[in-house]
Amino acid sequence: MSNGESRSAFERDVLAGLSATPKHLSSKYFYDDEGSRLFQEIMALPEYYLTACETEIFTEQSGEIVNRLLAEGNAIDIVELGAGDGVKTALLLKEVLAKDSSAKYTPIDISEVAMTELVENFRLQLPHLAVEPKVGDYFTILDEVRKSSQRRKAVLFLGSNIGNFDAERTALFFSSLRAVMNEGDLLFIGFDLQKDPRVIHRAYDDAGGVTARFNLNLLERINRELGGNFIIDNFLHYANYRPIEGSARSYLISRELQKVEVAGREFTFEPWEPIFTEISQKYTLAMIERYAADAGFRVVNNFFDRRRYYCNSLWQPK
Ligand code: AVJ
Repeated sequence: MSNGESRSAFERDVLAGLSATPKHLSSKYFYDDEGSRLFQEIMALPEYYLTACETEIFTEQSGEIVNRLLAEGNAIDIVELGAGDGVKTALLLKEVLAKDSSAKYTPIDISEVAMTELVENFRLQLPHLAVEPKVGDYFTILDEVRKSSQRRKAVLFLGSNIGNFDAERTALFFSSLRAVMNEGDLLFIGFDLQKDPRVIHRAYDDAGGVTARFNLNLLERINRELGGNFIIDNFLHYANYRPIEGSARSYLISRELQKVEVAGREFTFEPWEPIFTEISQKYTLAMIERYAADAGFRVVNNFFDRRRYYCNSLWQPK
């Protein structure tokens, strides 16, 4: 497999998820090589406003953001969780490097392929920046980074990647991060905000069907890697937005009664039976404040795009 997850973990999770009622599969398995390519395509879609919003914030406010990062001393290392292609981060890092030429950048991702591409891009775009990519588990690596350097750190978690966690895992995630951060460190997180539900719905059900292919690729991946025999056309992508919970949810829906084999086991799908595949949580400012306080952080500053669709929130241990 192309990333740090072992095949047996993937197989174990898929078999457990397809045996459960209701059936579910984890969105963390979307990102094989094809899934990562499709996600790049999603980020360029007109309906998928998230990337454009964060890019706008970084383009227009990087001076102010980096001033905040450096406010308590003119040296900082940047650690990014789930760095992906690093394109947006480069906008910030240019500014960091202009003000702190000693800054190091440690991108962390589960995808080896993504890290290789990122390093190649950065060699061309920011040749003077020291890049030390790491592949693997966020907390293990953060703890290593903490032990190996005395310098202040800014930890970045961008793109509203946090949205794939439910409330319980979000709280756990932030307190685990707090546990591996020092007093002067900073945490910089991208949150997609609650807005017109129709705008959110379109972002997860684009007219060109790219998101549908992205979701359905999970079944193709199971076919490729776990000897599955899903007939892809027998499933449909369905996404909705729940305005009370503030969450977009994606499903793969069985169009008919059918049996599917995966890793030698058989699963029955009733007509219109859903497999729950992804939650993409949207936030209010009150939720952001609450998550920060509960995990032992204070909100230093919030940065918004012009439409207030999106918020990059800067936190510090309190
Ligand atoms: C990468 C988790 C931020 O939930 O918006 C995009 C993934 N799923 N379209 C999101 C995704 C469907 C994305 N994140």
